[in-house]
Amino acid sequence: MSEEIRTSIHGQWSSRTAFILAATGSAVGLGNIWKFPYITGENGGGAFVVIYLLCIVTIGLPIMVAEVMLGRRGRQSPVNTMAALAAEEGRPAIWFLLGWLGVIAGFLILSYYSVIAGWALSYVFRTASGVFEGATADGVSSIFTEFVSNPESLLAWHTIFMVATTIIVSRGVKHGIEKAVSYLMPALFVLLIILLFYSMSTGYFLDGLNFLFAPDFNKLTANSILVAMGHAFFTLSLGMGAIMVYGSYLPKETSIAKASMMIAVADTLVALLAGMVIFPIVFANSLEPGAGPGLIFQTLPIAFGQMEAGVLIGTLFFLLLVFAAWSSAISLIEPAVAWLVENKGVTRVTASVWCGMTTWVVGIGSVLSFNLWSDKTWSLSLFGETLFENKTFFSTLDGLTANIMLPMGGLFIAIFAGWLMKVESSKKELNTTEKGYNLWLFLIRVVAPIAVMVVFLNVTGVIK
Ligand code: TRP
Repeated sequence: MSEEIRTSIHGQWSSRTAFILAATGSAVGLGNIWKFPYITGENGGGAFVVIYLLCIVTIGLPIMVAEVMLGRRGRQSPVNTMAALAAEEGRPAIWFLLGWLGVIAGFLILSYYSVIAGWALSYVFRTASGVFEGATADGVSSIFTEFVSNPESLLAWHTIFMVATTIIVSRGVKHGIEKAVSYLMPALFVLLIILLFYSMSTGYFLDGLNFLFAPDFNKLTANSILVAMGHAFFTLSLGMGAIMVYGSYLPKETSIAKASMMIAVADTLVALLAGMVIFPIVFANSLEPGAGPGLIFQTLPIAFGQMEAGVLIGTLFFLLLVFAAWSSAISLIEPAVAWLVENKGVTRVTASVWCGMTTWVVGIGSVLSFNLWSDKTWSLSLFGETLFENKTFFSTLDGLTANIMLPMGGLFIAIFAGWLMKVESSKKELNTTEKGYNLWLFLIRVVAPIAVMVVFLNVTGVIK
């Protein structure tokens, strides 16, 4: 491939900062503020958080570097990038399937992601209406329960979110996101800090910190280790080509390692902050840390109802959460849209509409999981280990994508980038110090793949 071809037909980021902003926009989302606290609560706290952090550093970071690198070298949608790189490196063409695995995972994730983003959207208005002013924990909980029991209203919010996502994607990810993210992310951060002060004032701050950071490894099960690893992929947007496609819009000179580090640090900080805000509220109100997907909707409104200017702060908070979800959602369908534009000769608008509609339809299953289908659950055990337990449509999709498809995608990315790509190729593309390169090579060849495989085998009961 000549150097001329090595810029994407979809355009390029205007600068390194633009890439970092967009990738941070993809990484920071519902995963940090909605999912991290609730799965931490369900998996017993501290020890789970330690495993999650370990996974970020030893698996997530090297795979992020690999994904950005593959994207920038391939300069196309993940499907075509993998095909092109496999050809370039003299590897079997079948590697394009890795791109497809990602496209499918992206659709499945976005389908339920949009439903939850719809909840956040409706909470913008609910908070603004003042219903939470002076509300008790019970009151806040029953507002939530009543809300999710109504399929029509969940469907309406899911629809609004998906339509908006489709519109943004159809205009091209590079127009507007850079600027939006550069204001909205810092604003979200500031609001979390304000909320942190509220949590400090509850008298239960230390209980919260204790739950979040004091590890009790007896509480860890094979399954919670899998969830922690899956979440490391989910929260960094890894394993499905989102970061790869963003990498494909990256100018040549940028240092991939430094950019990845900054993205991972920002993402982790937001998640830990969210945890430090939410758990003190949980304990101050004798709530259940393992309450599940409703956790932030059952805790944060209590704070907004009690604090000074709570209506304003709460409304802004949910609004910023919706924007964070948007900047993540667009990265979930960008790989599919880019592929349709490249291979089917359709316009971005047509491609976006098709992708948006497909996702919307699948999302209906998740809408119903919280009401009409809430008792339609199933379980699965393998070699005496519980793989899936009482899963609804929603939690099945979540478990299948985050805990299986993403780590699987990441594993193959690691194998391709570490073992199948020539060392000269990756060295040239990463263009970093000898030491840095060797560290990355060790992590991507040995540590990351073995860690993913061990966690997989552990949860299936093959190894104990
Ligand atoms: N990382 C986002 C979050 O934490 C979600 C997300 C966006 C994602 N793009 C992704 C997850 C790609 C997995 C793969 O909310």
